[in-house]
Formats: sequence, structure tokens, C-alpha cells
Amino acid sequence: MKILMVSSEAVPFAKTGGLADMVSALSIGLAKLGHEIRIVIPRYYAVDRSSLEMLPGAMGVPVGYGCEEWSAVYTAKLPGSSKKNPITVYFIDHENFFGKDGIYGTPTEPDFLDNPRRFTFFCRAAFQLCRKIRWFPDVLHAHDWPAALAPVYLKFAERVKGSLGGFENTVSVLTIHNLGYQGIYYKDNFDYTGLGWDVFYNAGFEDWSMMNFLKAGMYSADKLNTVSPNYAEETKTQAHGFRLDGVLRYRSADYSGILNGIDTAVWNPQKDKLIPKSYSANDMSGKEAAKTALQHYFGLAEDPDLPIIGMVTRLTGQKGVGELFGPSYGCIWSICRDMKLQFVLLGSGEAWCEQEIMGLSSRLSNFRAQIGYSEDISHIIEAGADFFLMPSLYEPCGLNQMYSLAYGTLPIVRRTGGLTDTVENYDEGKGTGTGFLFDDLNPQSIYNTVGWAVWAWYNRREHIDAMRVRAMKHDFSWEKSAKKYVKMYEEASEKIL
Ligand code: ADP
Ligand code: GLC
Repeated sequence: MKILMVSSEAVPFAKTGGLADMVSALSIGLAKLGHEIRIVIPRYYAVDRSSLEMLPGAMGVPVGYGCEEWSAVYTAKLPGSSKKNPITVYFIDHENFFGKDGIYGTPTEPDFLDNPRRFTFFCRAAFQLCRKIRWFPDVLHAHDWPAALAPVYLKFAERVKGSLGGFENTVSVLTIHNLGYQGIYYKDNFDYTGLGWDVFYNAGFEDWSMMNFLKAGMYSADKLNTVSPNYAEETKTQAHGFRLDGVLRYRSADYSGILNGIDTAVWNPQKDKLIPKSYSANDMSGKEAAKTALQHYFGLAEDPDLPIIGMVTRLTGQKGVGELFGPSYGCIWSICRDMKLQFVLLGSGEAWCEQEIMGLSSRLSNFRAQIGYSEDISHIIEAGADFFLMPSLYEPCGLNQMYSLAYGTLPIVRRTGGLTDTVENYDEGKGTGTGFLFDDLNPQSIYNTVGWAVWAWYNRREHIDAMRVRAMKHDFSWEKSAKKYVKMYEEASEKIL
């Protein structure tokens, strides 16, 4: 099959979170199965044009009623894709929209004012790109709200009589990575789509007099999915549906959950070049070396006997940071004061949380943090820590807990979303499990569960060692999940035949 991934992020070019890892890793997984994959993303300011190749000629993209914006198109090969079946990444270049710092915004302007226009333009450009390169996909696979207009354009403008043609046999799939971000804007922005106002209602854009990008994509895509089976079920309930549970129940025949895999070429302790010494379940000496390197890097006592709790995260409410770091409410202070452990964090996000964390580092001798984004340090934490904490409020899939398992670093997680699907709870009686789970998101539960893991570290080391080996042997490669995506593409194609 010919598949076009439409996404606002893809590693290594543009990343704010797991979406970027998933899009590139799934593409590589599908290419390995013999499919022809191409990816389209915006050419953000941070993507250096000199490392890309420019396609000759500019491309006109129709926007609004009878207007046109001009764009250049750049290309590159996706690193990690094979020579035999390489994946081409196309970059939509538009100085006004994308030639600025930030993917969705900056710390001072977290959601760019022109985001509805930026991503409307981007989705429209995906179709013009196919015309320009004379390549029409069998499947258009859109990811999250920034790409959600692609299925809408397909259904209401491109796959209809009187269109410019080329997409008569194309089907669309929308993957929801995070229902918490829907792209809700004033409906004045709708004119820019160039679609008739009948489509505003027929495609489900309408949301309490606002315009909802994700909701329209959810109504329009031929098939829908999210990134774990458990989150698919949760999102059909009012508690986790972010007001769109009704839409998901309405579309439940076309909606499923497919667990993400991980890119085992990048996240693999046996091959990882970013850790001091590679290791495997049979020889864990490299893990000890990574622990010493981690302690050294953060200026902590280089003591192998102290358990290290690690975190790599966006600092936002979704990740449970309020319950950990909330001033006078969070449990981080009692965890670090009461327990014999070390705590290291790498993260960036909400300003209050960054400030709180920086303050803590100077007051707690066993707490260290780096504010910012660093691929290198994230690998050292995954390998060097003994436990990995993810007290998420909700978690569509979560990649970090899978990276942790692959590195023999036992996750301490809340029983929600994909965390439930990937981490098996410790059983003290039998010594089974791969991590530590809790139900309620409050400071006390986090404190108790970290305490439980630390207790097992000091009193049941044989269990911890066995859990590590079990975690590392788990298969999180993309192969199984890529096949499930292929099945969904086939089912989507059958629907329109
Ligand atoms: P989400 O996409 O919701 O943030 P995931 O667990 O799916 O959660 O993916 C997070 C990804 O982003 C992982 O690859 C993680 O290593 C990475 N990440 C998050 N914050 C940072 C950071 N500050 N530095 C490096 N990598 C980070
Ligand atoms: C989102 C989710 C995360 C998921 C990732 C990749 O960012 O928050 O849980 O792992 O997308 O699908």
C-alpha cells in the first residue's frame, strides 16, 4: 500500500513528545512490511534547510474563498529507514506560518495565534503536494488535531465529484494520540478552510459555537484509532472522553486501540551509543556503569546501593506534576526527606513547575533536576535509574515506561491508559510483575507506591532482579502493531469500495 503520514511532528526533525517518535517508528515498521511510506510535516524554523533538498518550483495551496498561499517543498530521507525501501519526508515551507521558533508556540505564547491557519494550510498543502509529485496514496494517515483537517478535506473536497481528482480511491485514518488537545478556536477561522458552511455542521466542526479541529476529523475519517486498547475503552466514558466520548461511542464500530511499539534501533541497551557501556538481561554490568555516570552527571553521591528514581517528562498536568511538585501539596519533599533514595528529573513545561523544581534542587541534597530538553540525558536516565516514575492523570499510551522496561528500569505508574496495558503489577507473594501500580492520583498514593518500590529494593532484591530480567525480555517492537495498522487500512479501504 501507498501510505502518506500527515503529522506536525516526526523524529529526528521536530519533536515535543511521543507523537514524533511514534510517527517515524510506525513508518519504519510499515516499510519493513513492504509498504511505501511517505511523511509530510511543516518545515519549522529549527529544521535547517541546508540539510534538505528543495523540489523545483513553488506550490500553490488554495485557502479561504478563492485565495492561494505559496509554499516551497523540501525533502529528506528518514534516518533509520532502509536503503531498499527508503521513506521520504516532505517539508512544507511557509515563512510566515512556520519560519518562527516553536512548533505550536513559545513559552511566552504557548499557542500561536495563527495556529488554526497554520494547520489548515498544512493539511490543504498535503493534497497539493501529492499533485505536485504525482503520487496519490491509498491511505492518508493523519495524526492528532493539527492533521485532523486532512480527513475532512478528503471526504468533503477531494473525494467528491467535481474535485481536481487523484484521491477517488484514497481512504483516511485518524490516530488520536491525546484527546486533551483538540484544536478549539473561534469559528471566524473557518472561512480560511475554504469549505462551505454546510461542512461546518456536516463534518462536526461545531462545538458550542467554536470550531473543533479534532472533532471534525473524528467525524470525517474512515477509521479512527488511539494508541492503546485500554485508552480506547476509557475515552468512550465521560470521565476520560474530554467531552468527545459521545462522538467516540457514535463511531465505536470504526474506533479501536492499537498499542504503540518502540523503535528498538534507538531504545535498546544492547546498541545504545548514548550510554557508557551496552548491556543486556544476561550481563547487567553496563547498567551499573550507567548508574554511576548518572550520579556523576548530576553531582549525586556515587553509591550503587541507593535506589534512583528517574523521570523524563513534559511538565504539565497530564503527567501528574501537580501531585508531585505542587507547592505545599505535592509529595516530592516527603519522598526525598523520608526515604533513602536519589531522585533525578529531566523535563520542561509549565513555568510554575519549572520554578518549583529549580528551587527544590537547592534544598534537597538527594534531588537533582535539569530543566530543558536533552535526548542524551534522557537515555542516561532510562539506563541509569532503578525506577521510573509516571504518575499520569491520563496516558494514551506512554513511551517512557516502555523505554524503561527495555532498560530494566522498573516503572512506578498510575493504573491508567496505556500504562495499564504495558506494566504488570508487582506481586510480593510470588515475586512476579514488571513494575508498581496505583489507582488514585493524589500525593499520598504516589508517596506510598514509591515507598513500596523502595521497600522492595532494600528487602526483596531477588524480586527486583527477576522483575528486571522479565521487563527486558518483553517484546515492544513495532512489528505486531504495524500489522494491526495494516489491517485497519484494509478495513478502511473495504468501506469505500
Ligand atoms: P508524551 O508524548 O505525552 O509526552 P510519551 O511517554 O509518549 O509522552 O513520550 C514522551 C517522549 O518525549 C519520550 O520519547 C521522552 O523521552 C521524550 N521527552 C519528554 N520530555 C523530554 C525532555 N525534557 N528531554 C528529552 N526527552 C524528553
Ligand atoms: C501522546 C500521548 C502519549 C503517547 C504519545 C505517542 O503524546 O500523551 O501517551 O505515548 O502520544 O502516541
